[in-house]
Amino acid sequence: MNEKVYFCTKFSIMQEMILILDFGSQVTQLIGRRLRELNVYCEIHPYNKIPAIGENVKGVVLSGSPFSVRDVNAPIADLSNIKGKLPLLGICYGAQFISHHFGGEVNGSIAREYGRAMLTVVDEASPLFKGVSKTSQVWMSHGDTIAKLPQGARVIASTDDVENAAYKIDGEETYAVQFHPEVFHTKEGPQMLANFALGVCGCKGDWTPDSFIDNTVASLKQQLGDDKVILGLSGGVDSTVAAVLLNKAIGKNLTCIFVDNGLLRKNEFEEVLDSYKEMGLNVIGVHSGHLFLEKLKGVTDPEAKRKAIGSTFIDVFDAEAQKIEGARWLAQGTIYPDVIESVSVNGPSCKIKSHHNVGGLPEKMNLKIVEPLRSLFKDEVRRVGRALGIKRELIGRHPFPGPSLGIRILGEVTEEKLRILRDADDIFIKGLRSWPCELPSASYPNEMADNLYDSIWQAGTMLLPVKSVGVMGDERSYEYTIALRAVISTDGMTADWVHLPYEFMAKVSNDIINKVKGVNRVCYDISSKPPATIEWE
Ligand code: XMP
Repeated sequence: MNEKVYFCTKFSIMQEMILILDFGSQVTQLIGRRLRELNVYCEIHPYNKIPAIGENVKGVVLSGSPFSVRDVNAPIADLSNIKGKLPLLGICYGAQFISHHFGGEVNGSIAREYGRAMLTVVDEASPLFKGVSKTSQVWMSHGDTIAKLPQGARVIASTDDVENAAYKIDGEETYAVQFHPEVFHTKEGPQMLANFALGVCGCKGDWTPDSFIDNTVASLKQQLGDDKVILGLSGGVDSTVAAVLLNKAIGKNLTCIFVDNGLLRKNEFEEVLDSYKEMGLNVIGVHSGHLFLEKLKGVTDPEAKRKAIGSTFIDVFDAEAQKIEGARWLAQGTIYPDVIESVSVNGPSCKIKSHHNVGGLPEKMNLKIVEPLRSLFKDEVRRVGRALGIKRELIGRHPFPGPSLGIRILGEVTEEKLRILRDADDIFIKGLRSWPCELPSASYPNEMADNLYDSIWQAGTMLLPVKSVGVMGDERSYEYTIALRAVISTDGMTADWVHLPYEFMAKVSNDIINKVKGVNRVCYDISSKPPATIEWE
C-alpha cells in the first residue's frame, strides 16, 4: 500500500459504525456486506491493527479464521478495550477465541464440521434471536469445538452435533456463534445480524447513498480547501463517481484527464468524453494513441504489453498533469475491496496478472492521494453514482481492463487488428444492449436488467492469432477468428460463462462474419474462472 499521506474519507467522525476484526477468513468481507445492506457503516481491520475506539464505534464483530485457536501461531487480538465495554459478536473462530481466552475450552474434534446444520434456539428471549424461527438452517465450517463456555456464559442456541452453537456472556453484551450468519446458507443470518447491529448495538441504520454523499462532500471540502486536484478518468464507474463527488465538493479546482490510449472501443473516447462534459466536469481529453501503438510494436508477451501500456500511460498522464499549475492532490477511484486486500491479514493475494496498471503514478507525481470511494463496495459505488444523477449507461458499464483492447488482441497489436476487433466488439456489445431479457441486473442485484448487456457482469471480444479456412461466395477465405466472452461474477475473482440465447449468438456471429472484413469464424468462450481467466491475456 502506498505509504504517502492518505486522505481516507472519514466522513464525520461521528458516523456510527461497527468494527469488524479480521482473523483472515475467506468470508470476512461478507460480514461487511451484510451490515452495509442494513445501512450500517462498518470497517474491516486486521485483528492486530485495531484502530482507536471512538464513541462512534457501536459494536465489534470478530470474524472467522483458517487457524485453530490451539495453533501456536493462532492470531490473537487484544480485546481489553472492547470485551465487556462494547457489544461484541464472535463468529466461528471469533466465538472460539472468546471461549479459549476467557475461561472456556476449545477442543479438536474428530471430524471437521462443514455444511448445513439445523439450529435450535434455546433462549427464545435472547435479543440475538428476536424474530428468528425456533429452528432454522445455519452454515457451519469448523474443525474445533467449544467444549466449555467462557466464564459467565450460557448457551442460547444448539444444533444436534454442537451443543454450544451460540452463547451469551451474562452481564455484558458479548455474543458468539459457532456458525456463519453472514453466508447465504444461514437462512435467518440477516435477521441475526440485524438484531445485533440495530438491536444490541443500537445502530440507527442511517448509512445511505445520500448520507454518504453529504458527509463525503463536506469532508472533501474541509480537507481540500482551495487546493487543486487532478484525477485520471477511465470511463469506468469508479473514476466517474469519484470525479462527480469531487466536482460537487471543489468544482473548478478539480481537473480530470481522460487519455485516449488508442486501444479503446469503437467511438468510446468521443462518447465518454461528451458524457463527462455534459456532466459539467472540467475534463481534458488527450489523444495519444500513436504513442501507445509505437510502444507496442513487436511486443507479443501479455505482461510486456501491460507494462508498455502502463508506463506509457504514466508518461502521458504526468506530462499533462505538469501543465496544471499548483496541483497538490491526485484523486483515485480506489474502492473498499482494494483497500481490504492491501491490508489483509495474510497480505495481498498472489497476483496472476499485474492488474495495477498505474501503480507507479503517485510516486512519480509526488502528490498527496485523495480516495473518496475508499470505503465503498462496488454496488455501493453504483448506488452513490445513481444518487448523484449519473446516467445509467455510464454507471452500468461493464468493467474494462486498463490495457484495454491491447490485451484482447492476442499477440502483437496492429492498426489493422484493432480495426477488426473494434468492429466485431461493437456488433457484440450493441447486440447485447438491444436484446431484451428477463434476468436480474448485474449492476443492481435487486432489480431487473434493462437488456441482456445489463444482466451480464462483463462481456468482450478477443481477436485470436489464428487464421482458418472458410468459403465466402465461391471463394476460399483464410481469415481471423473472433472469440466472444460474457461472464457473470461479483468481483472478477471468480466468474462463470453466461448462457447466451442461441438466437442471439446466431445473429451476432452472422453479423460479425458478414460485416467485419477479415473475420470468417466466431467462437463463444465457455470456460469458467478458475481455471480460465476472464481476459485471454
Ligand atoms: P482476469 O482476466 O484476471 O480479469 O480474470 C479479472 C478482471 O480484471 C480485469 N483485468 C484488468 N484490469 N488492468 C485492469 O485494470 C489489467 O491489466 C487487467 N487484466 C484483467 C478484467 O477485465 C476483469 O474484469
